[in-house]
Amino acid sequence: MEIREEGGALVLYKEGTPVGRCTLEDRSILEFRIDPRWRRKGYGSYLLKEALRRTGGFEPRQPSCHRAPLPAREEELAFWEKFGFQREGESLVRRRRPDLSGVELSHRLVKDLCPQPRLSIDATCGNGYDTEFLCGLGGEVIALDIQPRAVENTRRRLGKAGLSNARVMVEDHARLDRIAAPGTVDCVMFNFGWLPGGDHTLHSQLEKSLAALEKALDLLRPGGVLSAVLYSGQGIGSGEKEGILRYLERLPLTRYTVIVCRYANYKDTAPLPCIVLKKG
Ligand SMILES: C[S@@+](CC[C@H](N)C(=O)[O-])C[C@H]1O[C@@H](n2cnc3c(N)ncnc32)[C@H](O)[C@@H]1O
Repeated sequence: MEIREEGGALVLYKEGTPVGRCTLEDRSILEFRIDPRWRRKGYGSYLLKEALRRTGGFEPRQPSCHRAPLPAREEELAFWEKFGFQREGESLVRRRRPDLSGVELSHRLVKDLCPQPRLSIDATCGNGYDTEFLCGLGGEVIALDIQPRAVENTRRRLGKAGLSNARVMVEDHARLDRIAAPGTVDCVMFNFGWLPGGDHTLHSQLEKSLAALEKALDLLRPGGVLSAVLYSGQGIGSGEKEGILRYLERLPLTRYTVIVCRYANYKDTAPLPCIVLKKG
């Protein structure tokens, strides 16, 4: 299958023959048509998904609003509803509001609980979003990742943002104790899993993650905050998430407050932001 742009329309070809057409003006679908011989075979879904994708309909951080004409036949409504379109008067409308992602939630919590850190550590810097966030809070930031590519990406992001308060290095977070002295760090952030845009087979591993968490808690000053976003699902399994949860749940209440923020009406594989507060 191939989609070609032809004069304001996306045309879906199967083996050189056009089988569907979607005419768009910005985010308004003016015409959507699949050749009757090719209906109910997934071609419509493929074309509509692509039209939505190309016009920002799946952007996780940007709101979007798409419109389409009401279908000629009532039974076609289910197809549009599958993609989030609802009847509004004489047309179909699909409104998407950005979700509060696990990472965004962790940023809000850290900012609230640790507004003016003097020393923060990003223990999985990846593409540098968390490091950029920590740099924005001020103070000194140490960012590390086991992959040189992640360190390059983070340095590039900070450079573009004009931020110079971070030291970024290739390091294994299982060796966090070499990075700072015990009791001196205000905030440590972990965002486990793989490098987005990188090799998905290179992801964090339970044994190292546990060693890193234990060392991070030791580095935190009393009153300091640890944030960890946990992942599970295809490719990564659920072992790391479950193992870390078991570890966090057993931390003594006399020394730590542990909060796990589960997305209760979403699938089990939703990111799981966790916060640990070290008691003063
Ligand atoms: C989900 S990404 C982090 C995203 C990142 N914080 C950002 O804002 O873009 C997870 C990162 O953890 C890193 N990682 C995995 N195991 C590690 C380890 N033992 N030590 C340090 N980094 C590790 C991966 O290389 C990957 O870049």
